[in-house]
Amino acid sequence: MIYQATAAAIVDAASLLRRGDLVAFPTETVYGLGADATNATAVATIFAVKQRPAFDPLIVHVDSLARADNVVRGLQGAALRLAERYWPGPLTLVLPRRGEIPDIVTAGLATVGVRLPAHPTARALIAATDRPIAAPSANPFGYISPTSAAHVAAQLGDAVPCILDGGPCAIGLESTIVSFAAARPALLRSGAITLEELQSLLGAIDVATDAPLPTAPGQLPRHYAPRTPLTLIDSVDEVAFDARAHAALLMAAPQAGTAGFAHVEALTPDGDLLVAATRLFAALREIDACGFARIYAVRVPERGIGRAIMDRLRRAGA
Ligand code: TXA
Ligand code: MG
Repeated sequence: MIYQATAAAIVDAASLLRRGDLVAFPTETVYGLGADATNATAVATIFAVKQRPAFDPLIVHVDSLARADNVVRGLQGAALRLAERYWPGPLTLVLPRRGEIPDIVTAGLATVGVRLPAHPTARALIAATDRPIAAPSANPFGYISPTSAAHVAAQLGDAVPCILDGGPCAIGLESTIVSFAAARPALLRSGAITLEELQSLLGAIDVATDAPLPTAPGQLPRHYAPRTPLTLIDSVDEVAFDARAHAALLMAAPQAGTAGFAHVEALTPDGDLLVAATRLFAALREIDACGFARIYAVRVPERGIGRAIMDRLRRAGA
């Protein structure tokens, strides 16, 4: 069931979480499927509902630095600088975990991903629950992440007793993940907090967005994927005219030469990539529902948030 995220609904959702049930809730990145992170049985339900492999660790959401300190050790130095600069916000920090977090959350790793989201509903929910909340994106494993309550309901509706509706997500791509598991910080997943920003704040940072498992199951080559095959192109001229009749074209801004496609989707009127990011997953879902033979997606420059957009498009097409 979808509930408007009123103060009363948040209190009810918190009591569901406290007794071990799941609640889907909005964050500024994507919707999460939450469980009490200290309750291994509740967390196991997340894996069952998402059909998520047990080797893929979850992110733990907190509402304060103090609660983050109960989840991880070592929130100091460069990690603390990032937290102070970007929390609340779309940044996940991977740090050594504390004993309060059960193995199932971290897939047995000695580290845990922790994030303080900016969305007021997410923070109010964590505060009302008074526990850290483990939450992956609220989609079946491998599919496109949800950026609205309706997206969650469409795929997991029967399995989730409560979906809090806090409107469409302001960012629309999953959080940037930075790991402090090794001597040098490493970017594990690109997102709205860009590599360029991280480099200017940290100096050196390794880029491990394509590292092998288990550092990063969101780094699986095929992930965030529609069922329709997706091909990346540099220019619409690459698509022969007879291939267009059963294909959709996805691009950041309108351009010329798109005649013949069954569907043409420009994510923005002017190519603003921050806006394109907010629309990307919803557009992929809508196009995926139409049964086209193929989606052609026009590449964007891999700078700033363009890096995260290209990361998701590449995995969608793998
Ligand atoms: O924006 C987000 O991060 C959203 C919202 C709900 O907060 N959550 C999200 O969770 O995208 P999920 O489970 O779909 O992706 C979490 C990613 C996975 O790729 C996982 O492997 C990685 O975080 N991760 C979690 N804990 C980790 C750890 N200890 N070491 C390395 N990677 C970790
Ligand atoms: Mg996910």
